[in-house]
Amino acid sequence: MVLDVIKDSKLVIAPMAGITDPPFRKLCRDFGAKLCYTEMISAIGIVKGDKKSLNFTFKKNEHPIAVQIFGSDPDAMAYAAKHFESEGADMIDINFGCPVKKVAKQNAGAALARNLNLSESIIKKIRSAITIPLSIKIRLGWNGSEENYLEMCKIAENNGVNVLCLHPRYAIQMYAGKADWDKINAIRPVYTGIIIGSGDIKTAENITTTLNAFDVDAIMLGRGLWGNPWLLSEYLNRDRLSLHETILLHFNNMVDFHGEKKAATLFRKFISKYLRGLPNAQELRLAGNAMTSKRDLLDLLEDISGHCHTFK
Ligand SMILES: Cc1cc2nc3c(=O)[nH]c(=O)nc-3n(C[C@H](O)[C@H](O)[C@H](O)COP(=O)(O)O)c2cc1C
Repeated sequence: MVLDVIKDSKLVIAPMAGITDPPFRKLCRDFGAKLCYTEMISAIGIVKGDKKSLNFTFKKNEHPIAVQIFGSDPDAMAYAAKHFESEGADMIDINFGCPVKKVAKQNAGAALARNLNLSESIIKKIRSAITIPLSIKIRLGWNGSEENYLEMCKIAENNGVNVLCLHPRYAIQMYAGKADWDKINAIRPVYTGIIIGSGDIKTAENITTTLNAFDVDAIMLGRGLWGNPWLLSEYLNRDRLSLHETILLHFNNMVDFHGEKKAATLFRKFISKYLRGLPNAQELRLAGNAMTSKRDLLDLLEDISGHCHTFK
């Protein structure tokens, strides 16, 4: 069961729009991840049968999977949750943390921190619509003078939320500053479900020290995995695939899912991360950003091998 997976593995893969698509999630699973969250999916998009929203879904063999939905209409949110339950999702996650304008201006994501009544209605509607575990992902509040994450934790406690993930920043911080992990320790007295912490975990050592230092059941890995899936294999003491093998594995996953042309374009946001720290990274990045085919990627990898003897 998904809740045991979280407690046993102590690691989950974050929802990251534009990043944690099925090919990236497959890569993470190849490196040892167990539970992955989807990118956020619009509940209204699901109600309207919008192709783009439906495409964010997961593949049949992708388990365990938590499907994250966003929106502000309780009925639409419950409809989307039920839809994904019937598709085989292992858990539904509600996005209460996205601060980007496009989402917040619909009163969804982090903007819901400013309307706890509506937040509670959404949780209640979804809880009564599905039988699988329910999780919520929250921030500390909209800003420092409206910090209310403990109120949200109490709402979660009173309404059957099984998992609560806190990214301890305010919405207005977006991703700037440091995640304030000390705030996480205040959750346990008011919330008895599974607690996950998210924010700024970049190394295997960070994972161990954070699990020891803070009162969480698991850690959510986000940007630390972007261009660095070895964060997982290192923590899990698994064999290390080379940079060359990893880039090819990830790219081939993308080709299988998106087709070669789209994969080549989408892969640009990953190749620049993989190239960090290599000699002449700047020049290689320019070549990476111009990629339009697998041939271009293979040429780039050849070029890197010529400069960097430890690459293969
Ligand atoms: C590019 C990007 C996209 C993100 N998309 C989502 C999302 O769709 N839903 C969500 O709840 N959080 C999203 N987040 C927030 C992450 O899940 C995570 O909580 C945050 O990045 C802090 O963790 P980190 O420092 O490990 O990345 C996103 C973050 C980034 C950088």
